[in-house]
Amino acid sequence: MRQFWIGGNWKMHKTIGEALDLARALKAGLPAAADVEVVVAPPFTALKAVAEVLEDSPVQVAAQNLHWAEQGAYTGEISPLMLLDAGCRQALIGHSERRQQFGETDGLVNRKIQACLSHGLGPVFCVGETLEEREGGRVEEVLSRQVREGLRGFSPEEAAKGVIAYEPVWAIGTGRTATPETAQQVHAFIRALLAEIYDKDLASLKRIVYGGSLTPETARGLLDQPDIDGGLIGGASLKPGPFIAIVKECVG
Ligand code: PGA
Repeated sequence: MRQFWIGGNWKMHKTIGEALDLARALKAGLPAAADVEVVVAPPFTALKAVAEVLEDSPVQVAAQNLHWAEQGAYTGEISPLMLLDAGCRQALIGHSERRQQFGETDGLVNRKIQACLSHGLGPVFCVGETLEEREGGRVEEVLSRQVREGLRGFSPEEAAKGVIAYEPVWAIGTGRTATPETAQQVHAFIRALLAEIYDKDLASLKRIVYGGSLTPETARGLLDQPDIDGGLIGGASLKPGPFIAIVKECVG
């Protein structure tokens, strides 16, 4: 059985004080349950403070991005060593906002996942098609490329680490959640692809989570699908109530 994974992507929201308030509220309100792994990804400036608050809780802290090198002349970038030092255990890689607005290519995503793996950070490998690609009937082609290129060169042991987040770009921040059927179809496709690239065992163990306007109202239908193992949540993770409500949908 795959354990549910729920992540809160705070994006470019929250000062340190605001992030601490949210982290404390989550710590107080989240159920202590073995059936779900909970992760939050605050902005870089609040990482250490949030990690300290959550240190004696089951909630893990993730970065929203990283540079692959350990150090060097890379103005404005943050290295895996710095993230570990700040208390991070996981990192979002290849979020569509980074691919679209900051020019992240599949090749860069691959290097960043490699950097996670060599430093013991769990990669949260994000993939997803745009509306234009969906309407052009290219969903499988796009996802196949993103998954194959992102995992290029990794052994089955490496590819098994972390989670894959399927986030259709047209659903992110739009209030237009994918229907459970649409999401399930794509998750099943990604799982079959993993079986083709690696093997059935890896495919059946790998957690594939959904992201894109996921709310407490839409969570149940999505999480009931056989190939949906949790969610990556943006807007609904910025307040404790909705995020805790989504986590509770995974429990029991
Ligand atoms: P959203 O964001 O829930 O606000 O759509 C999800 C994400 O971008 O990870």
